[in-house]
Amino acid sequence: MKNTNSRKRLKIRELIYLILGFCVFTVILTVSMKNIYWFTAYILLCVSFVIYGVYENSTIHTKDLVIESDKIPLGFENMKIIFFADIQMDYFYTKNRKKIRKIVNFINKEKPDIILFGGDYINKARGTETVFEELGFLKAGKGIYTVYGNHDYYDYKKITSRLKEQGINILKNNSAEIKTENGSIVIAGIDDYLRGTPDIEKALGGSGDMFTILLCHNPDYFEIMPEEAKEKTDIILSGHTHGGQLNLFGFAPFVPSRYGSKYRYGMKETKNSKIYITSGLGGVVFPMRFMARPEIVNLVLKKK
Ligand SMILES: [Fe+2]
Repeated sequence: MKNTNSRKRLKIRELIYLILGFCVFTVILTVSMKNIYWFTAYILLCVSFVIYGVYENSTIHTKDLVIESDKIPLGFENMKIIFFADIQMDYFYTKNRKKIRKIVNFINKEKPDIILFGGDYINKARGTETVFEELGFLKAGKGIYTVYGNHDYYDYKKITSRLKEQGINILKNNSAEIKTENGSIVIAGIDDYLRGTPDIEKALGGSGDMFTILLCHNPDYFEIMPEEAKEKTDIILSGHTHGGQLNLFGFAPFVPSRYGSKYRYGMKETKNSKIYITSGLGGVVFPMRFMARPEIVNLVLKKK
């Protein structure tokens, strides 16, 4: 209880600092402009930015991600695989089920065979119940697989028990083989890089020579991932960075990464491997996004 209260105080303090900063900036600008028209234009621009940011945050887009490999079995060529991440339920969303219900309906309409979740169900512990009451409606013929994100450690026990109740497969340094009559693939998952204890050897232990998808919440892990493990992995799926959340043509000052914008969004390839970082669906601090559209990834596997 003490921790929750101190976190709440921290959040309120951040908000007060931000509002005070904006007010001071506005006063300085007003005095320096000495022109009511420019000042009015500035205020209108700020209001438009906020309205658009809230709107963009409420949208959902589909991103088709095509992966070609000679390791992909024929049984997976027409498989519907959906990947999404970073629901980030928080203060602004706790009583608002609409957004998560929209996400669930959006995914169910795609009639997925497999659903992959990249972690961060919540921002802080208050969102857990709402998220799982709604996620219980997700359907996937061959199962739902998930890793933990750093924020999920705020309510680790409850999230773990809800995942188990709903039959969602937790990949915490382990893997699952998905079988069809025409071959199998492996979905592996690694524990969170910031709050958990990642063990890539354990995570990829069951992959053998099969086509392997690795769920890894935080793309920063890619920087220290051993080359041998990268070679074993055919595609790494990450989230965490929210596409920067607030961007201006690629300039994103608040990317939660040690490497700036390097892992902000999209596909990054090296000699031995590739990682796709989704922009995810939620955000932190404000329910706003700018030039970082929320997305759900439609993973298309094609045999070379
Ligand atoms: Fe995260």
